[in-house]
Amino acid sequence: MQAKFKRNEIVEATIESLAFGGSGVAHIDGFTILIKGVLPLQKVEAQITRNKKNYAEARLTKILFHSPFEVTPRCEYFGTCGGCRLQNMIYEEQLNQKQRQVKETLIHIGGFSDIEMEEILPSPETFFYRNKMEYSFSDQRWLTNKEIQSSQIIKNNYALGLHIPGRYDKVLDINQCFLLSERSNEILNFVRTFTRDSGMRLYASKGHTGFYRFLVFREAKTTGQFMVNLVTAENHEGEKLTVELAGSLKETFPFITTFVHNVNRKKAQIAFGETERIIFGPGYIEEKFGDKIYRISTNSFFQTNSLGAEKMFQLIKEWGAFDKRQVVYDLYGGTGSIGIFISDAVKKIVGIELVPQAIEDAKTNCLINDINNCEFIQGDLLKVLRDAGGFVKQYETPDVVIIDPPRSGMHPKLPEKIIQLNPTKIIYVSCNPATLARDLKVLCESAFRIKRVQPIDMFPHTAHCETVVLLER
Ligand SMILES: C[S@@+](CC[C@H](N)C(=O)[O-])C[C@H]1O[C@@H](n2cnc3c(N)ncnc32)[C@H](O)[C@@H]1O
Repeated sequence: MQAKFKRNEIVEATIESLAFGGSGVAHIDGFTILIKGVLPLQKVEAQITRNKKNYAEARLTKILFHSPFEVTPRCEYFGTCGGCRLQNMIYEEQLNQKQRQVKETLIHIGGFSDIEMEEILPSPETFFYRNKMEYSFSDQRWLTNKEIQSSQIIKNNYALGLHIPGRYDKVLDINQCFLLSERSNEILNFVRTFTRDSGMRLYASKGHTGFYRFLVFREAKTTGQFMVNLVTAENHEGEKLTVELAGSLKETFPFITTFVHNVNRKKAQIAFGETERIIFGPGYIEEKFGDKIYRISTNSFFQTNSLGAEKMFQLIKEWGAFDKRQVVYDLYGGTGSIGIFISDAVKKIVGIELVPQAIEDAKTNCLINDINNCEFIQGDLLKVLRDAGGFVKQYETPDVVIIDPPRSGMHPKLPEKIIQLNPTKIIYVSCNPATLARDLKVLCESAFRIKRVQPIDMFPHTAHCETVVLLER
């Protein structure tokens, strides 16, 4: 079949909507074209880069008419950093697009003909909504167009910031980011100056030399507690310097409640150390949802948008309409945060989670909250539930099953196991509408029906969308 367009052909198109993932969708003579970095109702000129059977991809070359949804992005790194790609679109329209994407995905992938959905819940904060940021040190600094064009010469190649999308070797030096907090930016800039002047080199993956690797911040939005975690290679001299850095930070920013030094001796570029030294403070921060305290240490998983997560947990509690006779399974339970939140309302929580450290954190969280009706089982869900009948005999049949899988969704064999558990209700929490739709299709081919669908925006200015679905038998 002949391709609809020639490669490199220039076309004009009006963007109709944003597809899941953020690309703009346009049609020319009924044929679909996907274009990145555009907004709905923009008229653009674009160059065809890829021809597929059912659609083509094109690169934006010129905006011919602006979109009524366009706003000036707040961040100077917009378009380079890749973190908040929708920051140039008014927030209400971001919400509209996400609501429509969830609905269309449920229809197209899930095969549901008419889905009634609640109106998407906005994030309580649209800037400074994250509780964690991970910055990289690099001597491979990415120069912005502004820096290249300015006559000012960049004196060094030093960068402390975020990776350029698709370029794991290049880091954009960042002075101000609107994701964590204003005060975290001050610490970021302080650490840059301190480390640059310290005489210790930046870690380079080529040759596995140098010291500084990552700077991780965790900030509890409900208590204000703040953790600085410096991840480095191993070096005795560096250890002394790190203590000095921690002291200077404590003096300059008394709100920092803990400083942790992680040493990563491995080549893999991850902000995780095999050894951890707590330089000051308790080595963790605490988030508080209602009367529940969550202890978050350097490597614990915790929902990144704290205020949004609390809202979502409340919704789960409301939809569960739990009572003290009920047994609830919290599958893909992580550090037990959902189970712990609803534990007072039910007879028993059974959490299942793969990562042993998360199970330890879940148990600690129960201890500090004086909760004793939660059990946590470590293991791969498919293996733990291999004999679903035997499992329910041991742990009681669940009235409600909460499922909160990673982006890849459930293992294809898991829905069958969930059905064998025979709950009355399922509450599925998803961060990926496509795998959600795929899994719901299987669950609804058996005894379950979708009762409510609630999209929640946990990640403003990004293409991601969280969805909570209530299913009943
Ligand atoms: C999206 S997180 C949800 C965490 C938790 N529900 C929360 O809100 O904090 C998904 C979790 O599933 C866990 N996981 C991934 N694959 C798993 C598997 N095959 N069996 C059990 N847990 C798994 C991950 O370690 C992670 O903690």
